[in-house]
Amino acid sequence: MSSTLLKMMVLIGASLPFFWLIALMVADNLGANPIEAMTHFTGIWALRLLWITLAMTPLRLAFNCQVCLKQRRMLGLLAFFYASLHVLIYLVLDQQFVIADIVEDVVKRPYITVGFVAFCLLIPLAITSNRGMMKCLGRNWKRLHQLVYIIAPFAVLHFLWLVKKDMTEPLIYLVILMVLLGYRVWYAKFKL
Ligand code: HEM
Repeated sequence: MSSTLLKMMVLIGASLPFFWLIALMVADNLGANPIEAMTHFTGIWALRLLWITLAMTPLRLAFNCQVCLKQRRMLGLLAFFYASLHVLIYLVLDQQFVIADIVEDVVKRPYITVGFVAFCLLIPLAITSNRGMMKCLGRNWKRLHQLVYIIAPFAVLHFLWLVKKDMTEPLIYLVILMVLLGYRVWYAKFKL
């Protein structure tokens, strides 16, 4: 399969949750607390796409999947898109953009603090994800994009801290992250 066709399929596939969310909104089918439902939906898709992005390098290393690596930039941008929606819903719909309340939340609630840091760190990665920036930054581009090793643990910590009862789901994401990052460490130590 050509890389362009795969890219199109990835783009369509990863956009489906967004259109599904719009459909749920239009049909007024988001349950008793629509803002909470939208926050959860966009948060979980940001996390899923971030994990899928992180899976591309191990897939290339394990199966020599070069086309996988070519999807990485777009997948990362899609993760950023869902994370931006997530934050926007929080800022505009949940907090009605009351800056004092937002600052208080960021300072006083640890799960908001780590989510905020994760999102802030995602911004430079999204801005510098194009080829022009890659060329311009040279070796520093790789260094900058290693921020993802801080972003991903912070994102999963955000999830772990906000869950009150059943920790199964965030723990599953934590285990997947450990496998994905552990594979890179193992590869660098024993295969290089
Ligand atoms: C400024 C940054 C962020 C803020 C203010 C924020 C805020 C929130 C809030 C208010 C919730 C719902 C909490 C609850 O229901 O008790 C939530 C859930 C969540 N957020 Fe964030 N978040 C931020 C960044 C992120 C980022 C960067 C990610 C992932 C890449 C993320 C992933 C999630 C996930 C997975 C959930 C739980 C969804 C579920 O329960 O199914 N958040 N966030």
